[in-house]
Amino acid sequence: MRVVVIGAGVIGLSTALCIHMRHHSAHQPLDLKVYADRFTPLTTTDVAAGLWQPYLDDHSSPQEADWNQLTFDYLLNHVHSPEAEKMGLALISGYNLFREAVPDPSWKDTVLGFRKLTPRELDMFPDYSYGWFNTSLILEGKSYLEWLTERLTERGVKFFQRKVESFEEVARGGADVIVNCTGVWAGALQPDSLLQPGRGQIIKVNCPQMKHFILTHDPDVGIYKSPYIIPGIQAVTLGGIFQLGNWSEINNTQDHKTIWEGCCRLAPTLKDAKIVGECTGFRPVRPQIRLEREQLHFGPSKVEVIHNYGHGGYGLTIHWGCALEAAKLWGEILEERKLSRRPPSHL
Ligand SMILES: Cc1cc2nc3c(=O)[nH]c(=O)nc-3n(C[C@H](O)[C@H](O)[C@H](O)COP(=O)(O)OP(=O)(O)OC[C@H]3O[C@@H](n4cnc5c(N)ncnc54)[C@H](O)[C@@H]3O)c2cc1C
Ligand SMILES: *[C@@H]1O[C@H](CO)[C@@H](O)[C@H](O)[C@H]1NC(C)=O
Ligand SMILES: *[C@@H]1O[C@H](CO)[C@@H](O)[C@H](O)[C@H]1NC(C)=O
Ligand SMILES: *[C@@H]1O[C@H](CO)[C@@H](O)[C@H](O)[C@H]1NC(C)=O
Ligand SMILES: *[C@@H]1O[C@H](CO)[C@@H](O)[C@H](O)[C@H]1NC(C)=O
Repeated sequence: MRVVVIGAGVIGLSTALCIHMRHHSAHQPLDLKVYADRFTPLTTTDVAAGLWQPYLDDHSSPQEADWNQLTFDYLLNHVHSPEAEKMGLALISGYNLFREAVPDPSWKDTVLGFRKLTPRELDMFPDYSYGWFNTSLILEGKSYLEWLTERLTERGVKFFQRKVESFEEVARGGADVIVNCTGVWAGALQPDSLLQPGRGQIIKVNCPQMKHFILTHDPDVGIYKSPYIIPGIQAVTLGGIFQLGNWSEINNTQDHKTIWEGCCRLAPTLKDAKIVGECTGFRPVRPQIRLEREQLHFGPSKVEVIHNYGHGGYGLTIHWGCALEAAKLWGEILEERKLSRRPPSHL
């Protein structure tokens, strides 16, 4: 079977790895290729801080809640393995802050040690009056993409830098199955009015004394529009920008100011930190992730497509659950092909 995965962000590479791990064998070899026009460090995944953090208002599907949980458990199993450092994976604790009391999130039993903040803890954050503390995981996009690339290369997967103009071109090139992991750019291959860019901008600073993440929430303005600080393994990410529908990839000076002032107010120690980077990226925002099969016909040839895109601001948080689901869909296709090729029993 010839498979082409389009996309080399966290979704494309983890889906490729999961399919290869589950369905490649000596007697049933898989010819798997990855096509992408951007590779690390130029994908959206490289921009992400990589905190495991589902949205607070959990109106998303129960399926997505399962995929988040599967991803947390998978990563937690790896956190003390010798691979963790290369994966960019570590435990991290920190605060979620609010201006008023809110209901507990549905995933409070997934993260570790979830509890409400005490008054003495809240004293550290004069602008906020309510909050949680817990331990979660950080998975740095850039390191993780490098790690995934190494695992795939070991398995003989080949990478091609190319822009795909249509599914048809890939189908005609001889692919039996296309896995569509094109993130926010998916709409260029097949119009999808539900998919939009959620523009984010972040500043990276050197600040080794920042050990905890601090996320603030303001339900009136919406998710990711209030300051957040997320220490990674290499640098600390400062953010708080979310602009729906904005495709501008340039770093905006006003957004820079908003992030800087908001984060310094939250953690004054940042004022002396050295800025080491800045970047802008587009969260692939969709009311729900699209993870499903579709059969496309181009003249006499038909190709199976597995769509896996639209992971919004929680692509790293949910990726492995989605990769497992995509591998399951792949298994179904394989079974159907086997059945259709088996000679009828009465012959
Ligand atoms: C500022 C910011 C902070 C974030 N923080 C977090 C966080 O802390 N935790 C978290 O879980 N998530 C976070 N996210 C969200 C996360 O980054 C995304 O959900 C995730 O990276 C999406 O991964 P992806 O693989 O779908 O997309 P991408 O990483 O964008 O990869 C898409 C791939 O598809 C390729 N492609 C697209 N179209 C074509 C084509 N036609 N032909 C060839 N190749 C194509 C691209 O070249 C690329 O390789 C953040 C996002 C932003 C912007
Ligand atoms: C703690 O809970 C918040 C709730 O917003 C979540 O976003 C975050 O990922 C969790 N972090 C940890 C370390 O559990
Ligand atoms: C991938 O999915 C996106 C989103 O639906 C779509 O726009 C694009 O056409 C798809 N690409 C392919 C090659 O199917
Ligand atoms: C944003 O700023 C960073 C760091 O200065 C730079 O590397 C990047 O190229 C900038 N992005 C754009 C689109 O100018
Ligand atoms: C989009 O973002 C750019 C860069 O921040 C900004 O200049 C522009 O005004 C924004 N446009 C919209 C429609 O928000």
